[in-house]
Amino acid sequence: MSFPIPRFAPGARIVILTGAGISKESGLDTFRDAGGVWTRFRLEDVATPEAFRRNPRLVHDFYNARRRTLVDPAVRPNAAHAALARLEREWRGDVLIVTQNVDDLHERAGSRRMIHMHGELMKIRCEGCGDVVHWTDDLGVDSACARCGAVGGLRPHVVWFGEMPFGMETILDALARADLFVSIGTSGSVYPAAGFVHAALDAGAFTLELNKERSEVADLFDVVETGPATELVPALVGQLLDQDLP
Ligand code: APR
Repeated sequence: MSFPIPRFAPGARIVILTGAGISKESGLDTFRDAGGVWTRFRLEDVATPEAFRRNPRLVHDFYNARRRTLVDPAVRPNAAHAALARLEREWRGDVLIVTQNVDDLHERAGSRRMIHMHGELMKIRCEGCGDVVHWTDDLGVDSACARCGAVGGLRPHVVWFGEMPFGMETILDALARADLFVSIGTSGSVYPAAGFVHAALDAGAFTLELNKERSEVADLFDVVETGPATELVPALVGQLLDQDLP
């Protein structure tokens, strides 16, 4: 498989946006596909600050169940995650992954240069002192902060609807300097991520969408390829690295 994309100069800067679709073949649910998370839960009940104030137990139950799924040994990075880690290792220019995903599969595949713009399921934050720590267990209303001792104020270190995503200044700066922008496994239905393609186009970057089906913003991309991430992403990385040989 080859993609109708230009040959990029050595040192070209690549920004990659990923969404839940890249983790689907690792066994993690997407949000808006058939059977997705938001077809089973109301996001207003489990993914907003108001929901946490109104019913923290329900919100904890929701994230505890997703955290337990993620720590299941059967859930592992797939070939798409591995290909992006290879690209970061071997590409002679800068590669930045901006992920909407709260799973840690990119890291477990070896990626290092990345921003979790919607936070991380394997971290928790104290609403009292702001401490953020790695966390793999269940969390509850009676959990106490290890740093300040406050009870009941620990929350998933995840960005809820109505909250500001993390890393936006760095992300927009990277998009403004990008030569290639690749969007992988996202429906393009949630902003600001869905608008990143505009910033890439304004920077003169070549824009490529890889997704199981055309996203809501597909028409904005120079090239759109549909299919499973575990086929498309390794093929793209192979083509980029083959053209990058000295
Ligand atoms: N390979 C590639 N793409 C896939 C695959 C696959 N194997 N399986 C599903 N997809 C695609 C779907 O076609 C869909 O377009 O992945 C996309 C997933 O879209 P969503 O479920 O909307 O997930 P995402 O775009 O990551 O959601 C963005 O919304 O609810 C919030 O915070 C949440 O980060 C999330 C954000």
